Amino acid sequence: MATAASEPPFDGDDDRLCSEPTQPSDPNQVDCCLGNPRGYLSGEARIERAWAHWKKLGQPKLIVAPMVDNSELPFRMLCRKYGADAAYTPMLHSRIFTENEKYRSQEFTTCKEDRPLFVQFCANDPDTLLEAARRVEPYCDYVDINLGCPQRIARRGNYGAFLMDNLPLIKSLVEKLALNLNVPVSCKIRIFPNLQDTLTYAKMLEDAGCSLLAVHGRTRDEKDGKKIRANWSAIRAVRDAVRIPVLANGNIRHMDDVASCLEETGADGVLSAESLLENPALFSGFQTAEWVLGGEERNEKGGKLDQADLVVEYLKLCEKYPVPWRMIRSHVHKLLGEWFRVQPCVREDLNSQSILTFEFLYGLVNRLRELGVTIPLYTKDTHMGKVCANGIGA
Ligand SMILES: Cc1cc2nc3c(=O)[nH]c(=O)nc-3n(C[C@H](O)[C@H](O)[C@H](O)COP(=O)(O)O)c2cc1C
Repeated sequence: MATAASEPPFDGDDDRLCSEPTQPSDPNQVDCCLGNPRGYLSGEARIERAWAHWKKLGQPKLIVAPMVDNSELPFRMLCRKYGADAAYTPMLHSRIFTENEKYRSQEFTTCKEDRPLFVQFCANDPDTLLEAARRVEPYCDYVDINLGCPQRIARRGNYGAFLMDNLPLIKSLVEKLALNLNVPVSCKIRIFPNLQDTLTYAKMLEDAGCSLLAVHGRTRDEKDGKKIRANWSAIRAVRDAVRIPVLANGNIRHMDDVASCLEETGADGVLSAESLLENPALFSGFQTAEWVLGGEERNEKGGKLDQADLVVEYLKLCEKYPVPWRMIRSHVHKLLGEWFRVQPCVREDLNSQSILTFEFLYGLVNRLRELGVTIPLYTKDTHMGKVCANGIGA
């Protein structure tokens, strides 16, 4: 068994970030207008192209949301195995990405199966953003701008949701990418307290060249996603106001939420974040005990699936696709949270390890299993409202 070093094996060679760049000769990706990849198109043509691209990707519905330190390659691959149609990278800092080779090679890794992929940046300078975006565009399907981060660090760095105070700057970021990149630009936003402001904002983004809009239905001040329900009706209003594909984000805890959200918002897909961290198999119909309302059964398909199985699968993916240990540690905590509540001494043991190894982590799972603790995941009785891996069943 590997005892991986604490750093991923990449040595900063950009070509090794990814295995298979998209061919720039792809007619759906490169426009021939005056040598300018995406510029000089009428509004109508841009909308058509936004939809053509979305359709070419298979209209992904079930999408892993961007999560700093948590939507990294092995986690994305695990979620894809369990039904995710597409995934965002964690937010990357555009300036650091352009300046620091180690940051690039550690924070952005991908592989040819890791598609469709949306690479997200935070930025407040159009030229820097473009420089960062150009480095990743051969390896992704959208370059996404983070316009939703509400954390103090974003306030200090003047990015994320704090750019909502400077809409002309946001417009210039979107335009810069839309006019100069070969892949489309997407944006992930939060809503304003006032609906009309949100709609004006969304239309501005569309006019600036945004091809796909993910709307987190909470305001910048509504930071606690567990306590504050996302406003799906505001997402519906955005969906009705713009013509590009729209994704809904907030309160997706299981597949019933996916169905209700798509119906209530009319969105083209959903993003899930926190719930996926606990249950990466969410998009294939599994749910944690918290959401079992009756009618669900312990999965008997080929035995059973519980969170320990997912930890083991995740660790194997980390051996295949190395990432910094802080990411692995974070996932192990979230996946095994319920177990740790029952066996806090095992959590303390994990916390006391300043250096982690795969042997230790596999051993930890075995110890919990030997202690007889299981945290099963449940699926719906297939006779009642079937949930399937690639969208909503009958
Ligand atoms: C650990 C964590 C990290 C996050 N990092 C990002 C990020 O890098 N970029 C971003 O746009 N949103 C980020 N978010 C916000 C999520 O993408 C999502 O908008 C939010 O959690 C609401 O979705 P949910 O209700 O499904 O959790 C993060 C959320 C979590 C829980």
